[in-house]
Amino acid sequence: MLNIVLFGPPGSGKGTQSLNIIKKYELMHISTGDILRDAVKNLSPIGIKVKSYLDKGELVPDEVVIDVLMEKVFSSKDVKGFVFDGFPRTLNQAEKLDKILVSKSIPINLVLAVEVAEEELYKRILGRKTTGDRSDDNEEVIKNRLAVYKNQTLPIFDFYKKQKKLVSINGMAPVDNVFGSISEVIDEMISVNSKL
Ligand code: AP5
Ligand code: MG
Repeated sequence: MLNIVLFGPPGSGKGTQSLNIIKKYELMHISTGDILRDAVKNLSPIGIKVKSYLDKGELVPDEVVIDVLMEKVFSSKDVKGFVFDGFPRTLNQAEKLDKILVSKSIPINLVLAVEVAEEELYKRILGRKTTGDRSDDNEEVIKNRLAVYKNQTLPIFDFYKKQKKLVSINGMAPVDNVFGSISEVIDEMISVNSKL
């Protein structure tokens, strides 16, 4: 199995590149943001619980999001691997994810850290605002999403660095070029590990 974490700030291209990766390598995409937004749209009990967190750009409590993730991982049968987009976002989530995957004997193989300058993140998210319908795509909430990323999510960088799984990707280039860099890293990993 090939399990990849896509790590990066809001607007860095995690969703865009996840779609490219799952298509090329036939993996399953798990975006906790997408799952939570669907829950809000469907007015499900979880959706009602999490709406105010998403609207403000705050993290949904770990126990809620870990349940959502486990349900998705354990209900996915016959998959070649997962692309985790927007999860983990706290050290606690990263440790839980390791435990869940070890229990299934399918550890994380690679963590791709997509790096994009802050002013470009604003530009991209505000650009998406004209076509999308996300309640968190406005300047004030973006500011909070970035602060939350720095304070609560960035410490995971070192967690994966210590595990020697982290590879930085220049996310400033056009979409196809970023995907080219990502493909090179994944192909190299596959070529040295025949089990993947
Ligand atoms: P989530 O849905 O994960 O959003 P996010 O991290 O804020 O990131 P985005 O989805 O906005 O950006 P992205 O990196 O996917 O970039 P994209 O490809 O869209 O989380 C939302 C909320 O859900 C959180 O705030 C929290 O409340 C909750 N949540 C989710 N997971 C959670 C967790 N694990 N724990 C707790 N709470 C959780 O690209 C952005 C734009 O740029 C697009 O328009 C795209 O077309 C464009 N673009 C992409 N790449 C390029 C490029 N190379 N050049 C030019 N434009 C580009
Ligand atoms: Mg996204």
